[in-house]
Amino acid sequence: MMNDHIRFDADQDALLLLDQRYLPLREEWFACRNTDDVIYALQTMVVRGAPAIGVTAAFGCYLASREVRGKTDWRIALKELLELIRTARPTAVNLRWAVERMEALWRANEVVELDHLASLWLDEAKRMQLEDEAINRAMGRHGAELLSDGDRVMTHCNAGALATAGFGTAVGVIYAAVEQGKRISVVANETRPFLQGARLTAYELHRSGVEVTVACDNATGLLMKKGLVDKVVVGADRIAANGDVANKIGTYSVALLAKAHGVPFYVAAPMSTFDLDCPDGAHIPIEERPAREVTHPTGESQITPLGVQVYNFAFDVTPAELVAGIVTEKGVLRPPYTEAIQRMFGK
Ligand code: MRU
Repeated sequence: MMNDHIRFDADQDALLLLDQRYLPLREEWFACRNTDDVIYALQTMVVRGAPAIGVTAAFGCYLASREVRGKTDWRIALKELLELIRTARPTAVNLRWAVERMEALWRANEVVELDHLASLWLDEAKRMQLEDEAINRAMGRHGAELLSDGDRVMTHCNAGALATAGFGTAVGVIYAAVEQGKRISVVANETRPFLQGARLTAYELHRSGVEVTVACDNATGLLMKKGLVDKVVVGADRIAANGDVANKIGTYSVALLAKAHGVPFYVAAPMSTFDLDCPDGAHIPIEERPAREVTHPTGESQITPLGVQVYNFAFDVTPAELVAGIVTEKGVLRPPYTEAIQRMFGK
């Protein structure tokens, strides 16, 4: 499984990202040398997926600290850059989580020299990267218990190694079941308009030798009706305190169809994806992305008539009552989620 697609290069003092815009056709690297590069990478989806953007943001804080060197008011300038990183994309809570962790480290240390802060942050970003993979493996161990030998598992978007520092959340659950010797095949929904399922989930599962079939997003009803899907496992960008789940657009429709066909619908997400300040899904901001992603799916010719409007909401919210279980690094949460989430956070 991939775990080297987010690399810090000490010689170049740069963060290198495997550019997910071009996969699986080309493996190109994008170098982030400053905050502008990091924000560009986040917003144009060079890197995407909630935990992966969290780790990228953490390295972004380090790069920001390098950028303000030589400024007398570096503290103010640095806070401004951190705010830009925190808000680069609105739905996944992991950006905020990563920046807040860096800010907490800053507050906890009597930092006089900027260089000292930079070195604390670089170490912390590397720690977060390693932790993320370990968390995903723990999540995989818990979640694999939900899958049986022979299961055909549907997933939506890409919640695999590429969406994290390594191993993946929802796809990590599948990898862990396969590692346990279970025969699992995967239906990867193509996930319009950015095609994370067709391009990224299919790419990494195929590379790892896991049987994968790509399906059009609008095939879910038929596939379930035909009995071709035993379980659904998806990732999450933000989980509210009541268990409502924001994930890639289309997830809600999959969850409704799963309910209608008696297919268990599971979510896998680390604790960093929970937002206890957010009471329910109605409070989760939904990112709207450029119309061009929909009108120009290959990046070149326009497929829609000129002048026609486009909806490009990037996420939707699945109500907690449609979710059979939430897999975390601490175990599998079951309804009622408000209580289960409070208990997990020791409240
Ligand atoms: O817009 P994206 O590609 O960043 O959206 C990603 C998703 O919706 C994933 O399913 C989610 O982040 C879970 S990642 C482990």
